[in-house]
Amino acid sequence: MSETAEGTATAADPVLLIRDVTKVYGEGEAAVRALRGVSLTVEPGDYVAIMGASGSGKSTLMNIIGCLDVPTAGTYLLGGVDVGALDEVRLARVRNRRIGFIFQSFNLIPRMSALANVELPLAYGGVRAAERRRRALAALGLVGLSDRVRHQPNELSGGQQQRVAVARALVTSPTLLLADEPTGALDSTSTKDILAIFDRLSLSGRTIVVITHEDDVAAHAKRVVRLMDGRIVDDRRQAPVDGPPPLIDDRSSTGAMSER
Ligand SMILES: Nc1ncnc2c1ncn2[C@@H]1O[C@H](COP(=O)(O)OP(=O)(O)OP(=O)(O)O)[C@@H](O)[C@H]1O
Ligand SMILES: [Mg+2]
Repeated sequence: MSETAEGTATAADPVLLIRDVTKVYGEGEAAVRALRGVSLTVEPGDYVAIMGASGSGKSTLMNIIGCLDVPTAGTYLLGGVDVGALDEVRLARVRNRRIGFIFQSFNLIPRMSALANVELPLAYGGVRAAERRRRALAALGLVGLSDRVRHQPNELSGGQQQRVAVARALVTSPTLLLADEPTGALDSTSTKDILAIFDRLSLSGRTIVVITHEDDVAAHAKRVVRLMDGRIVDDRRQAPVDGPPPLIDDRSSTGAMSER
């Protein structure tokens, strides 16, 4: 794969390699041990749902996986790169290049078209204008929004906004798609749309980690990891890493949204 200032990632490296990670918020009497020794390996192509009750540490783990926060102790390798050894600037670069984020609340920039929103991570990455446009249009096509590229977020439904957010997450070709309750704000029809897109992305070889408390969402993943009180208490495989996700609809799995 690519050689960067952050080190060399090879195809053989797990996407995530987390060892004995702990996270303590605060100090002394007020200290909260949000993660109490989490170890997790995610291989390329896996589709993992992380579940757990409120307060179990899901967002804390998501922030660490997403390089938005650092562990108190333990090691974290993202595509073979030791994230703990990076300074802020390099961490931001790794985040931008290797991770595509999808949030419950979409987090699109208002008064900017869908196209401009999707181009944004490429602009940060220094991609030139014509190439940005080409890739952003392709990503919007992938989520079925070719006819909405000029619309601003407030001119789109919630489900369409989330599809723009998925396109924005994909456009940099990240090693990992990381989603935090991606369907939490959607109705059942839009939820189905997003899950169908995730299924197809998984089928095309994307690595996906999704945090969810919905069983319906987790049912689509190849593997379900459960957190309780800052520890992994269950790790169940629903489909092989190198096969299709369990609920893929074969009739819709070919064609426009297939990436490779
Ligand atoms: N910034 C913080 N400062 C202090 N404690 C925190 C902080 N963030 C989280 N915590 C605590 O860490 C624990 C894990 O929180 P976390 O947000 O990871 O839970 P969660 O599983 O995402 O919950 P939810 O499903 O409600 O989003 C909780 O006890 C929480 O109160
Ligand atoms: Mg949370």
